[in-house]
Amino acid sequence: DYFTPSTAPLQGIQALVTAGPTHEAIDPVRYIANHSSGKQGYAIAAALQKLGANVTLVSGPTNLPCPAGVTRIAVQSALEMLAACEKSLPADIAVCAAAVADWRVDKIASTKLKKTSATSLPKLNFALNPDILASISRDGPNRPGLVIGFAAETEAVEENAKSKLARKGCDWIIANDVSPQTGTFGGDNNTVLLVDQTGSESWETMTKNAVAEKLAQRIVEKLKLNT
Ligand code: CTP
Ligand code: CA
Repeated sequence: DYFTPSTAPLQGIQALVTAGPTHEAIDPVRYIANHSSGKQGYAIAAALQKLGANVTLVSGPTNLPCPAGVTRIAVQSALEMLAACEKSLPADIAVCAAAVADWRVDKIASTKLKKTSATSLPKLNFALNPDILASISRDGPNRPGLVIGFAAETEAVEENAKSKLARKGCDWIIANDVSPQTGTFGGDNNTVLLVDQTGSESWETMTKNAVAEKLAQRIVEKLKLNT
């Protein structure tokens, strides 16, 4: 699509998008991670940019190229992702698509853990990571007018998404089933449910690019209603 500056529907809109996994270090050579590819978040960043938004993409480690015209801030850990998001506010819209690690290793070893004997196994202690979506949703005067989160579920998708919406204080949740048999994690398709305060709407299975474009369109409609 091509929009001249005067017709681009998100012209002048600042958008913050998080994407990808986070890597939580164990020692200088090891980390804990998850299977997020970053595809859905990158597709959303690209779709918003195409509609004229000024997009900052805060991304954990992925193999994806930065979408054209998007400003990417690359991070590793959840703590770095939160700091980068805070720096990128204020924004008009925030979409948190990152698969942020819920826990980090509480004391990262400064040297590589060694396997000193067959009987002594390393013990890892965890600390809870900050919830970036909840933090953006509760950011008082800096809160974006529209805050959208994802809910990665393997069961009771709608029910879990509704309680997440309330718990996090965001406006919409895009819920998806990430059970291994769905192929969502790493795959190109996604089957989602859009949940807001008033109810939920299920979208047919479509590519992650199509989900991104449909979501971007919904964002345009929502911002129009607010003006
Ligand atoms: N999220 C976040 N920061 C975290 C954890 C999650 O910003 N530390 C965001 C994700 O980007 C996503 C939403 O919160 O938009 C939901 O993530 P999810 O992992 O599904 O929810 P959790 O609250 O972590 O609950 P659980 O993993 O136990 O289902
Ligand atoms: Ca989680």
